[in-house]
Amino acid sequence: MTTDDLTAGAPVHTPAGSGEWWRDAVIYQVYPRSFADGNGDGTGDLPGVTAKLDHLAQLGVDAVWLSPFYRSPQKDAGYDVADYRDIDPLFGTLADFDEMLAGAHERGLKVIVDLVPNHSSDQHAWFQEALAAAPGSAERERYMFRDGRGPAGDEVPNNWQSIFGGPAWTRLAPREDDGPLGPQWYLHLFDSTQPDLNWDNPEVRAEFEDVLRFWLDRGVDGFRVDVAHGMIKAAGLPDWDGQVAMVEGTVEEATDPAAPEDGSTGAGNRGPMFDQDGVHDIYRAWHKVLAEYDGDRCLVAEAWVEPLSRLARYVRPDEMHQAFNFSFLTAPWDAATVRTVVNASLSTMEAVGAPTTWVLSNHDVVRHASRFGLDEIGGRQLNGIGATDPQPDAALGLRRARAATLLMLGLPGSAYMYQGEELGLPDHTALPDDVRQDPSFFRTNGAEPGRDGCRVPLPWVGGAPGNGFGPTGKTWLPQPDVYAELAADQQYGVKGSTYEMYRAALGLRRAENLGAGALAWVDSLADHPDVVALRVADVVVVANLGASPFALPAGAQVLVASGELDETSGELPSDTTVWLRA
Ligand code: GLC
Repeated sequence: MTTDDLTAGAPVHTPAGSGEWWRDAVIYQVYPRSFADGNGDGTGDLPGVTAKLDHLAQLGVDAVWLSPFYRSPQKDAGYDVADYRDIDPLFGTLADFDEMLAGAHERGLKVIVDLVPNHSSDQHAWFQEALAAAPGSAERERYMFRDGRGPAGDEVPNNWQSIFGGPAWTRLAPREDDGPLGPQWYLHLFDSTQPDLNWDNPEVRAEFEDVLRFWLDRGVDGFRVDVAHGMIKAAGLPDWDGQVAMVEGTVEEATDPAAPEDGSTGAGNRGPMFDQDGVHDIYRAWHKVLAEYDGDRCLVAEAWVEPLSRLARYVRPDEMHQAFNFSFLTAPWDAATVRTVVNASLSTMEAVGAPTTWVLSNHDVVRHASRFGLDEIGGRQLNGIGATDPQPDAALGLRRARAATLLMLGLPGSAYMYQGEELGLPDHTALPDDVRQDPSFFRTNGAEPGRDGCRVPLPWVGGAPGNGFGPTGKTWLPQPDVYAELAADQQYGVKGSTYEMYRAALGLRRAENLGAGALAWVDSLADHPDVVALRVADVVVVANLGASPFALPAGAQVLVASGELDETSGELPSDTTVWLRA
């Protein structure tokens, strides 16, 4: 092969441009309880985040998204919010938040906070008022209360299942003033401590616009919108026999980008509780609220919808600005599928003028360094790995994870990374059941291990108590042994470390303006069964997803590689990605 064989064809899309900062930003997810512990109680906090801002600035990301830190009983790790305008004492105070925000801005980092509008905590003042009030009252109208079915009202109002397992309805305790149908039921798509809000009620809409303003006034740069596809339910709440799930595989979409939109292919999350047209009115209203503020504030949709053309509806010009691309996250380790997902992602987002995003890991799925170590199922185990499940091949997983990341960071658009992936961290895949905290583990009676494995506190100082997570060595979940050698301090400045690979790639991505570039496929490799090869700006990205080495052209300059190259043969080993100047 010669460098001529790396000639790329015409760009497959028009770049979404680099006007607003979020169009090509790399955004780092901080999961506050597991990032860094400032006060030594074993749980991460906002002072911990502030103390580690230099790590993020030096890594070279553009922005930080923080998972919820609001006042909460923590039944779903803070995704159960009791007060949307205050910080939970576990994480600090509003003053700590302001300090963290100022520290990030000083370092040129934007800050996105998490907004959880589909449901509140059952400890939210509104829900407590609803419990005290009568059926049909204004207080109950803020949530989804219904009478039960059957003559005594003791059957669930419909057959919907909770995403965390079990029925999506819980019945209130009996009261003396109950009518013949007895106590009402309330809807919760997630845990029973997370009652769904009634978004048909204008009071709910007004409240959340006010919450947006509260944080915008404090200076945040945007919001990640939790369960953005769930707020509006089909009128009449009809029964539905489908299976609700947060994490859907989207292979159908990936292999058939022209999948019909009637739900017959890649039909995930198309039931009457998801992706209803009415949600878009909410985002149009929010878009206007953000537009009142300076500085390109943004809304990011967490919407598990398929196919991609449905997802694109969330980022039309007058709605949100970005949506997580879960089709990329769920794609198996397969060259043809990756190309198809990349093509489909770029074209569907281009059609609405939005940037494409890319993501491989977050706090809800098995980290990609573990996922890709499960070769026999193509790395598609997303929802937790338990101690008695087949265990990933750690070396294979890390090799593929680094290759997948280097491929992702070469793609135009905006990329999300999850804390600790820059260290190559795997999940804790052998957590004992008695330390698990995820409600999905309990609501499925352990059938689903849940998400605790990807939420383990980060190692900062290898071998120190708790690997330096905080001053006391306490960690709210145990760390696996391998975290000692993967700790940040073991990787800073170490040639070939995962951290240094991320830093090099992020630096080049910025210098070469890859995020704003146009992608073109390398013609001679466009149908290669194992190799994904593309050009963005002046960089050629070649990823070898196959089992055999791939001969690189002589004379190409290697900019960064995900693994060691064979210098004498000039071959790109299996499961390795390289960026070339060719
Ligand atoms: C989102 C969050 C997840 C949470 C759920 C309910 O999917 O990412 O962690 O459990 O919403 O709020």
